Amino acid sequence: MMMITLAVTGKGGVGKTSIAAGLARTFARTGKRVIALDMDPSPNLWYSLGCGVPGQPDTIIPLISRKDFIEERTGAPLGASGMIFRINPKVNDVLDMFGVSCKDGVRLLVLGAIRTGGGGCYCPANTLARRLVSHLSGEADLLVMDMEAGVEHLGRGTTRSAQALLVIVEPGLKSIETTLQIAKMGKDLGILHIFGIINKLRKGDDPGQIAKRLTEAGVTTIFAFPYDPAMEVADRTGVPVIDLPEGKRMEAQLIELAQVIEKHLPNQAPGH
Ligand SMILES: Nc1ncnc2c1ncn2[C@@H]1O[C@H](COP(=O)(O)OP(=O)(O)OP(=O)(O)O)[C@@H](O)[C@H]1O
Ligand SMILES: [Mg+2]
Repeated sequence: MMMITLAVTGKGGVGKTSIAAGLARTFARTGKRVIALDMDPSPNLWYSLGCGVPGQPDTIIPLISRKDFIEERTGAPLGASGMIFRINPKVNDVLDMFGVSCKDGVRLLVLGAIRTGGGGCYCPANTLARRLVSHLSGEADLLVMDMEAGVEHLGRGTTRSAQALLVIVEPGLKSIETTLQIAKMGKDLGILHIFGIINKLRKGDDPGQIAKRLTEAGVTTIFAFPYDPAMEVADRTGVPVIDLPEGKRMEAQLIELAQVIEKHLPNQAPGH
């Protein structure tokens, strides 16, 4: 069976969450088991996935902030340093405990991001997150992680579990610069597949020029989305773009992107 684990990355505001959610639902519509992980410290993936969260606000508390739970599972308080803690905490019930059901059968888990600023060791929480991601990648046909903006997450263990990095890049030097940094760090981590996806392309932008820059950094550009006003409607109304009548073009492009991703990734044995 085809198993895919993707980490969606890029500079702030480039469209990571929109594309992660769109891919999750597109794959789910083809009958695949899809798990989405929100790894952003300000989680908002559930909006784009159309999850039943508003009635159950507790489910959007990031797992990483559940101090008692982390302590229970690892035997050490969050932020503990130099302590002995369990390196193999139990994780196989976490999705059932904290997962949320979203449209098309996608399951969402809000993990959050571990803040390491300040020098404290967050090893127990980190270990739990890493074990969880690696466990879940064996539970789904597609595991898609919506990462925090920028490069910091590449220093954490969770990104390493990704089979491929999707780096979302919008026309503009800053976004390209971040992409090049992510590519370098991703390669250093040993991630084999680093794909560029151009987003918000407007008249006059030159995708070939961007792709060329990325190619020089070893990043294969696999897709380009145009700037689509339907995304603004989605933002304004809180309705996921592919549920909007205006969203047909986006929907078709996401189907195409899903196929391109499958084509680019070799089959992976379960239990990766
Ligand atoms: N192809 C597109 N055309 C027009 N607007 C878009 C497109 N893709 C994303 N957007 C808009 O860009 C904004 C940021 O999108 P999104 O939240 O998905 O980005 P992000 O990278 O996850 O941001 P953050 O770094 O804050 O997590 C949103 O307003 C979204 O509607
Ligand atoms: Mg986001």
